[in-house]
Amino acid sequence: MKRLLVTGGLGFIGSYFVDLALKRGYRVVNVDKVTYAARRDLDFERRPGYEFIRADICELTHLPVGVEYIVNFAAESHVDNSIRANQDFFHSNVRGVYNLLELVRAKDETDQPVFVQISTDEVYGTVREGSSKETDRLNPSNPYSATKAAADQLVRGWANTYGLRTIIVRSCNNYGYGQYPEKLLAKTIEFFLEGRKMTIHGDGSYRREWLYAGDNVEAILLLIQKGTVGEIYNVSSNEEHSVLEAARMVAAAMGRDPDESFDFIPNRPGQDLRYSTDCSKIRALGWRPTRTLADYLPEYVELYRRKLGL
Ligand SMILES: NC(=O)c1ccc[n+]([C@@H]2O[C@H](COP(=O)([O-])OP(=O)(O)OC[C@H]3O[C@@H](n4cnc5c(N)ncnc54)[C@H](O)[C@@H]3O)[C@@H](O)[C@H]2O)c1
Repeated sequence: MKRLLVTGGLGFIGSYFVDLALKRGYRVVNVDKVTYAARRDLDFERRPGYEFIRADICELTHLPVGVEYIVNFAAESHVDNSIRANQDFFHSNVRGVYNLLELVRAKDETDQPVFVQISTDEVYGTVREGSSKETDRLNPSNPYSATKAAADQLVRGWANTYGLRTIIVRSCNNYGYGQYPEKLLAKTIEFFLEGRKMTIHGDGSYRREWLYAGDNVEAILLLIQKGTVGEIYNVSSNEEHSVLEAARMVAAAMGRDPDESFDFIPNRPGQDLRYSTDCSKIRALGWRPTRTLADYLPEYVELYRRKLGL
């Protein structure tokens, strides 16, 4: 069975990926620094084929033997944090990727794993009309997306110069149970369960595509099986809602009056107006999202109620 090195596998999307990979019979070595964002409710340690290394990807000095793929989820991931204090973003999102690429390069060519970099649609910046293609110019707008774009460029540079085998996956905004409640939908559910109003940056009109994390990790695993090394793949749902529309859907799913549920605060600097990606490349491999936000929300709210013992 293939052995995968997953980084950031205790984080939101990484944990969905580790779960899926173990279910499909892969062996997984999970390297995670266990930051504030790491999940504490997982049972991976009890599952066969799982190993855990608590480490910072910047400080790893060698790669485990016999690993065929590295799937790099490890990152600082919250835009607001990156605006307040960007050092950790440069550290994990840029230096961390540099270190991993160098560790791959240090291995004998016959033993080098494929490096799968988990990137984001935010690297393209605002797309007012149409959708970004994988070949489009990167145009990041905030420290988070700038560090992710820098990482993508490192991956391309190391592939072109040193012949590393790489795949870059750029996915849109993910949602699902287990997301740290700094992100919009998790925070909105938590605030509403506490009887509070949710705060919205600006007028909430900026548009995002919303993708269930379980669908995203199916796409990533498919790329490990069928993706072409050297390529970049967008992964998106084409389900587009403004931030306010998505938050109002949560209010409606929780039986609240959406007109009485929000306070509006000054917008973030560097706020992108719209992200949209063309994901025909991954769809040509047979991948489709299986969930929509509207159909997942009741389940999401129920899982959250149980988590909080309500
Ligand atoms: N959340 C989204 O909607 C979204 C969308 C597109 C792309 N992405 C990308 O997907 C990846 C995962 O995002 P997420 O939302 O699951 O993140 P997350 O913040 O929930 O989890 C990140 C995980 O990485 C670990 N980590 C952070 N820095 C580390 C380091 N230096 N060394 C080792 N481990 C470290 C943390 O402990 C945590 O477990 C990120 O690379 C992010 O940029 C996220």
